[in-house]
Amino acid sequence: MDAKTFWQRARVRSIRDLTADIRLFELEPAQRFIAPAPGGHIDVTVQIDGRPVVRSYSVVGPCNDGVYRIAVKLLPDSRGGSSYMWSLQEGAKLTISEPGNHFELFRGRPDYVLIAGGIGITPIYSMALALSTAGARFRVLYACRDAADLAFADDLRGLPGTNLETFVASEDQRLSIPDAITSLAPDGEMYVCGPIGMLEDARSAWAASERPIERLRFETFGNSGRYPSVSFTVKLPLLERTVEVAKNQTILEALEAAGIEAMYDCRRGECGLCALDILEADGVIDHRDVFFSEDEKAQGHKLCACVSRMAGGSVSVDTGERR
Ligand code: FES
Repeated sequence: MDAKTFWQRARVRSIRDLTADIRLFELEPAQRFIAPAPGGHIDVTVQIDGRPVVRSYSVVGPCNDGVYRIAVKLLPDSRGGSSYMWSLQEGAKLTISEPGNHFELFRGRPDYVLIAGGIGITPIYSMALALSTAGARFRVLYACRDAADLAFADDLRGLPGTNLETFVASEDQRLSIPDAITSLAPDGEMYVCGPIGMLEDARSAWAASERPIERLRFETFGNSGRYPSVSFTVKLPLLERTVEVAKNQTILEALEAAGIEAMYDCRRGECGLCALDILEADGVIDHRDVFFSEDEKAQGHKLCACVSRMAGGSVSVDTGERR
């Protein structure tokens, strides 16, 4: 837990299912409420295998009634956070942080396109609310697997000024990110939250459009990879240590649990501070960050310990520490 952040107890005031696997939690802070900005999140301490672990969840909506709302998707491939949240009943107590924001909405642009993949709709929904209130020009493009997965779609359709388009994969509807960029005004901004493949597509399409890089803003879930999460081994030859990473654990969490120091900041695969040098990989590296370029990932010299992992096997790394 970050000592600089204000943490407090919170009570689960209500729980409501939005879809078969997305559940909305209302959290009532015990001490103080700070209104989150669009795109903001709170950290929640969840229990995984009996140990406290921090998970970040986007705050949904303007929360102008002193209650934080978060939507949690139950992931079969979960690292344990969603299963824990789904085990809670109304009245349960949690420890939560004050709101933070790694996905800030910049106001005053002439045009916006907001793109959501799956549960990535949560920050995008809050941004749409803010843009609608401001009377801004914007579109929301929302992709998901099945029509039944479209949480918040009805609310978005009812928002003044919202132009919502949905893309349901099971109905062969495909979102074209290059087309979305083409239709955006020259000084417009694009915001994307979705799985890693969607973010990589957005980054390449944006680069091909030659628009200023700062007008593309994105956030990842930090847990979507190209391979299922399985356990694997991290070898630290320079420390003469070996650490097992459980399937519901990140490399960073496993190192911390083993008392091995590692640097980090965002813990979401965005800042690169947790990057480790790869000495040898015995298996496929599942890069889940948005910090390294595709070329850097293909070279396989480094990985972000907070999100990336091995699809089995083992990896030898250098944390910078010496025995
Ligand atoms: S801590 Fe920021 S990318 Fe890992």
